[in-house]
Amino acid sequence: MVKIAILGTGNVGKALFGGIKNGSNEVKFGSRDPSKSKAPEGAEVVTMKEAVQWAEVIIFAVPHHSTSETINSIGGDNFNDKIAIDVTNALNEKWELAMGFDTSAAEEMQKLIPGAKVVKAFNYVFAENMSNGKVGEGSLTLFVASDDGRAKEVVMKIGNEIGFESVDAGPLKSARYLEPLGMLLIGLGMNQKLGTKIGFKLLK
Ligand SMILES: NC(=O)c1ccc[n+]([C@@H]2O[C@H](COP(=O)([O-])OP(=O)(O)OC[C@H]3O[C@@H](n4cnc5c(N)ncnc54)[C@H](OP(=O)(O)O)[C@@H]3O)[C@@H](O)[C@H]2O)c1
Repeated sequence: MVKIAILGTGNVGKALFGGIKNGSNEVKFGSRDPSKSKAPEGAEVVTMKEAVQWAEVIIFAVPHHSTSETINSIGGDNFNDKIAIDVTNALNEKWELAMGFDTSAAEEMQKLIPGAKVVKAFNYVFAENMSNGKVGEGSLTLFVASDDGRAKEVVMKIGNEIGFESVDAGPLKSARYLEPLGMLLIGLGMNQKLGTKIGFKLLK
């Protein structure tokens, strides 16, 4: 059993909570203000710092622009030796990708918490499909990127338990390719009007 903290009680946080709580792992929310959070009824909600201190795996389900403020409010040392999953999409105010090619949100997160094992995953999946990892009957591919092999194994297992088909996507640097995939998904869903019941699958 893995102790998983989800930072942020928004769309992604709630969807991943739904997927994880049906499996064998323990899950809690970390919120800026637990008394005002939008967490689902029955969920345990504590402060972000308490959640991180308790957890072995921490999911950043917060806006990209608030990553550093979130880390600063918790204290970067509290992430030492823990797995941190970066679900964020680095969008600017025009909803365009704010970085790419020579770095990624995940690599920048790793610099902010050097003692943690940062993993990129889930960012190119619509929240609506995150609670079971499926569109219709088909399992979506969960690409998982990290420089730490064991952290990748743990996150791939969490993904498989939700219902995804996890695939090792190589080092954290692969986040440079997974983050534009998030933009492609948003474009297909919103601009091309395919809606949110879509997702990516690797055929082998
Ligand atoms: N929505 C999607 O389909 C989707 C898909 C893939 C990836 N993502 C990425 O996942 C992350 C979360 O997306 P979301 O759709 O869940 O967003 P959201 O509904 O706006 O929720 C974000 C949550 O983050 C917390 N938070 C911490 N600092 C914040 C701040 N400065 N301003 C606002 N909220 C703050 C809040 O929870 P508390 O009030 O409890 O602290 C808030 O509910 C984003 O980086 C997004 O790019 C989203």
